[in-house]
Amino acid sequence: MSHDNHSPAQDELDRLLQQNRHWARVTAEAQPDFFTKLESQQFPRFLWIGCSDSRVPANQILGLLPGEIFVHRNVANVVVHSDLNCLSVIQYAVEVLKVEHIIVCGHYGCGGVNAALRGQKLGLIDNWLRHVQDVYQRNQTGMFALQDDRSRLNRLCELNALEQAINVAETTILQDAWGCGQQIAVHALVYDLHDGILRRLGNGITQPAEIETHRLMLA
Ligand code: CO
Repeated sequence: MSHDNHSPAQDELDRLLQQNRHWARVTAEAQPDFFTKLESQQFPRFLWIGCSDSRVPANQILGLLPGEIFVHRNVANVVVHSDLNCLSVIQYAVEVLKVEHIIVCGHYGCGGVNAALRGQKLGLIDNWLRHVQDVYQRNQTGMFALQDDRSRLNRLCELNALEQAINVAETTILQDAWGCGQQIAVHALVYDLHDGILRRLGNGITQPAEIETHRLMLA
């Protein structure tokens, strides 16, 4: 194939593929059995449920290699009880991979949370962000006390992560796993784009009884 026929879009993809080959070569040079070991098994101990935002890549910010964390991302890290996609990821992670920790990670300055807070009309996605607006409406009293837009947005990013972590804990998957004595903790974290630091929002939920304590952190 002649290179002259390439459109700018193809050139861009070529660049990505080149970067991939470079990465594969450097990785294999540093650790010759890296790919053969990964190919045979994956034993991640963590499931990450985070925002699709390109600035919050789970592996990189946690310093984890391929094989170390199972990942699900969607706009504004929402966990909906009827979302077969997210529920399937949680079920596979808990029942097959037997992860020990589920991390629900929000991030400050989240565009999805901001759109929900402002009631922006962006199209189809408004229906998805309706779940974040529910979080806002349930916590309106506390939100009103905050003085400026930025504080309100950042607080809603925290509240959303907390509430979605509770949603994970309330799934039949987690309830059944805990019922069978499986050790698994659900954590809510928030990531700060300004300094790259992840912070805990409360203690993790390690059993059904802790859901109510966690809920008290809302509002
Ligand atoms: Co976001």
